[in-house]
Amino acid sequence: MVKIVRKQVLNPSVTLLEVEAPRIARKARAGQFIILRLDGPGERIPLTIADYDREKGTVTIIFQKVGLTTQLLADLSEGDCIQDFVGPLGLPTELPEGARRICVVGGGVGCAIAYPQAKSCHAAGLEVDVIAGFRSRDIVILEDEFKAVSDHCYIMTDDGSYGEKGFVTVKLQELIDAGARYDAVIAIGPIPMMKFVSQVTRPYGIKTIVSLNPIMIDGTGMCGGCRVTVGGKMKFACVDGPDFDGHEVDFDELMNRNAVYRAQEAEEKGRHDCRMDQLAHELIGH
Ligand SMILES: Cc1cc2nc3c(=O)[nH]c(=O)nc-3n(C[C@H](O)[C@H](O)[C@H](O)COP(=O)(O)OP(=O)(O)OC[C@H]3O[C@@H](n4cnc5c(N)ncnc54)[C@H](O)[C@@H]3O)c2cc1C
Ligand code: FES
Repeated sequence: MVKIVRKQVLNPSVTLLEVEAPRIARKARAGQFIILRLDGPGERIPLTIADYDREKGTVTIIFQKVGLTTQLLADLSEGDCIQDFVGPLGLPTELPEGARRICVVGGGVGCAIAYPQAKSCHAAGLEVDVIAGFRSRDIVILEDEFKAVSDHCYIMTDDGSYGEKGFVTVKLQELIDAGARYDAVIAIGPIPMMKFVSQVTRPYGIKTIVSLNPIMIDGTGMCGGCRVTVGGKMKFACVDGPDFDGHEVDFDELMNRNAVYRAQEAEEKGRHDCRMDQLAHELIGH
């Protein structure tokens, strides 16, 4: 059981929760995640450790409301508790030896996962450029936090309503063309974004680290749910990742595997009200 000590609504669909979890805070490193369960009948969902404070003994998660569990999580208040909160899981991010200049690229809520990467690189004394991309101005998150841990921070919006207009890949290409010599690029966001960032960096041989988000169940390497193909080999993202070499990942397979239940879910929705949906109606009224 962990207690929520701080709640901040970052935008209408993204919420930050800081929880008391001293044992996880003591061990956590950038790139790792937790699996939580709200209560007894609840499902287990993985969320990245967006920040941690070893002295206060707290861990921060930042999540987007996409379904029942994230909606219920966002409805909790300071002082409320989460029943199970397990971590740190997965391997911490490993940068190439001797890396001096890094570009951290975040897309949408992926910026929550990209932030601890920028923070730890900055704390290690590396030169850090951040490119954070959003659909529009109203969903920009963590701008001040990114600025505090980077040498240059570029905010991009698809519609040009804030920062510069264009995708993160356009900015990354521009910086490379202007002579930026990155030892590594860390890209975290929607799967197509990570795929296209990897395509931009490939011709230059820039090491590109992506954080994968396959469907996870146990988070311990037992169930095989999070299976991904990297460099032609089968990997389990929960124990071998979630970070992998973007030039080696089979992104198309990942996209297909993540969509595997979509048709079934749509069909089920048409046929009956599932137990989880009924629970959502009762608890949150929509
Ligand atoms: C290692 C890892 C780290 C993640 N970190 C973050 C984060 O920091 N912030 C954030 O907003 N999201 C993160 N996610 C995604 C997050 O786990 C899902 O958004 C969440 O599980 C959705 O649950 P739901 O019940 O609200 O939605 P549902 O309606 O159950 O699902 C909506 C969508 O969420 C994804 N999803 C559902 N269950 C799982 C699961 N068990 N494992 C993985 N994906 C699932 C699927 O794509 C699904 O279509 C991460 C995923 C992984 C694998
Ligand atoms: S979530 Fe079960 S093996 Fe990774």
